[in-house]
Amino acid sequence: MDIKKNRAVVRVPGTSANCGPGFDCLGLAATIYNQLDVTLLRSAKVLVESSGEGSENIPRGKKNLAWQAVRRLLLEVGRENEFKGAFIRTKNQVPLARGLGSSSTAIVGGLVAANEILGAPLNRQQLLKLATELEGHPDNVAPALFGGFTVSVMDGGDVQTFSFLPRIKLKLIVAVPDFELSTRLARKVLPKNISRRDAIFNISRASMLVAALVEGREDLLPPAFDDALHQPYRKKLVPGMTEVFEAAKNAGALGAAISGAGSCLIAFTTTKTKLEEKISSAMVETFKLHGVNAKSLILNVDKRGAKVMKR
Ligand code: HSE
Repeated sequence: MDIKKNRAVVRVPGTSANCGPGFDCLGLAATIYNQLDVTLLRSAKVLVESSGEGSENIPRGKKNLAWQAVRRLLLEVGRENEFKGAFIRTKNQVPLARGLGSSSTAIVGGLVAANEILGAPLNRQQLLKLATELEGHPDNVAPALFGGFTVSVMDGGDVQTFSFLPRIKLKLIVAVPDFELSTRLARKVLPKNISRRDAIFNISRASMLVAALVEGREDLLPPAFDDALHQPYRKKLVPGMTEVFEAAKNAGALGAAISGAGSCLIAFTTTKTKLEEKISSAMVETFKLHGVNAKSLILNVDKRGAKVMKR
């Protein structure tokens, strides 16, 4: 068997979902990456080697998420009897279980790699559908796949995504606390029903955020990252959340939000302000005042999404 023919290397960006008001529908890709090197095997063996962020906690066998994505794709295209296993090597930059889309990198990476090896039987829209099914929400997998900023809509079992590159050169300042937060727990604290007032609060801001980014209207951004649907309920899970947001804004950020379901907090500025170091220190220091050790990442918006590096 020619092993080389059955191998693909894919680079997938980390992502930040919600972006404040866009709960479960807005997301962006960031310039931080996980790389997956996938070889499909005829035998039913699953071997996983990981290095980098969180590697000690990544399942090695059939529970591995990238393998589950590979397997899902094989089933979808009816090739599961031909390839029953895989050798997967990952190099990870994206912090695990912090709201930066690490699980989406595994899902999208597994799907894109297997699809590439099999001669691209599925297009990106079909991959998005499978990725959303595996992840449960489209808001991280969509930017991981397409790059840029994404707006996603679930319509029954279907998912539609509009992806675009903002006309504002955003800088992303992420404070990464030293504790993990499970998305399941962060969703459990949310109320089942919301008021009409809170719904209007979010619809208006999410719409304004997209309009401002599409049109390059930085002046419209400051209120547009605020949220009433999830962050007020999640603040008890992230000590100092409100104060870190305030500190970031006082240091000049246009807005701040929980990244995905947390625990990371993300602030937004533009490349021209050169305020990212100041904002980053303000966030880390304020976290510290609330007993949380955090490191910071200063990132740009990834333009490309999942990319096949080697085939
Ligand atoms: N939108 C999700 C949440 C993020 O906030 O729970 C993870 O997909």
